[in-house]
Amino acid sequence: MTVPEEADPVIALSNVTVRREGTVVLEGLDWVVRPGERWVILGPNGSGKTTLLQVAAARLWPSGGVVEILGERLGQVDVRTLRPRIALVSGSIIRQLRADLPARDVVASGRYGALETWWHRYSAEDWDKAEHLLKSGGVDALGGRSFGVISEGERQQVLLARALMGEPELLLLDEPFAGLDLGARERLLVRLSALAADPGSPPLVLVTHHCEEIPPGYTHAGLMRRGTLMATGTLVEVVTSERVSDCFELPVSVGCDGDRWWSRAR
Ligand SMILES: Nc1ncnc2c1ncn2[C@@H]1O[C@H](COP(=O)(O)OP(=O)(O)OP(=O)(O)O)[C@@H](O)[C@H]1O
Ligand SMILES: [Mg+2]
Repeated sequence: MTVPEEADPVIALSNVTVRREGTVVLEGLDWVVRPGERWVILGPNGSGKTTLLQVAAARLWPSGGVVEILGERLGQVDVRTLRPRIALVSGSIIRQLRADLPARDVVASGRYGALETWWHRYSAEDWDKAEHLLKSGGVDALGGRSFGVISEGERQQVLLARALMGEPELLLLDEPFAGLDLGARERLLVRLSALAADPGSPPLVLVTHHCEEIPPGYTHAGLMRRGTLMATGTLVEVVTSERVSDCFELPVSVGCDGDRWWSRAR
């Protein structure tokens, strides 16, 4: 999808610094995401990827710099109105959801970002939509099953459906492939690739450690190292052997076969 350069950014971070308990976690970070873009953020453990997503989701305030999300500036906007417009899918939501909540309710309650369905009223259309989203993820047979007992791969599909239920204007995914077997990883890649191709999808940002997990159709990449984005741009500009080697401080060869990326240590 081509988006004009001058389109208003969805995320605009300028010179952002985050200090936590005396540690500098993000430092002097600049990043712009525009409508229609699908980003992957790659980087080693502890480089600041999760922290970056928390800032982009308006869940964490920077210690310095300027953060603008969906046209609103952190510090000048009531985050209670901004946060519901942004979906952040991460491991922490799994811990918050009741283990015996049916998967269908996990999805439906995403309409309000709630943890239970009894807090709000849901229409027949809401339940139909939840069912449809489960089906799109290939997990509609699991609607009645407890969230706590479904497999890791099924859980990621349910969480993605839950995120989409709220019709977010920005969708952020923190390591959705963690712990998935080959089949579950491939099914999630297909789903994320279909979302990337859908012009109705919001801008997407996916954090991962592996080039193999870049879904076909993604457009941009950022490489995180030691609290900063050391390279940003289109996938072909950024996901190169030289740059990925620099980022992971390990000599690697990186390539793309058709629409799938690979990497291996040299
Ligand atoms: N609340 C905190 N207090 C102190 N240090 C923190 C805090 N949160 C994060 N950090 C540190 O900041 C650094 C970046 O953490 P972050 O979780 O953003 O990295 P990450 O790139 O997501 O790592 P991973 O790939 O392992 O998930 C780490 O060194 C971490 O220990
Ligand atoms: Mg992380």
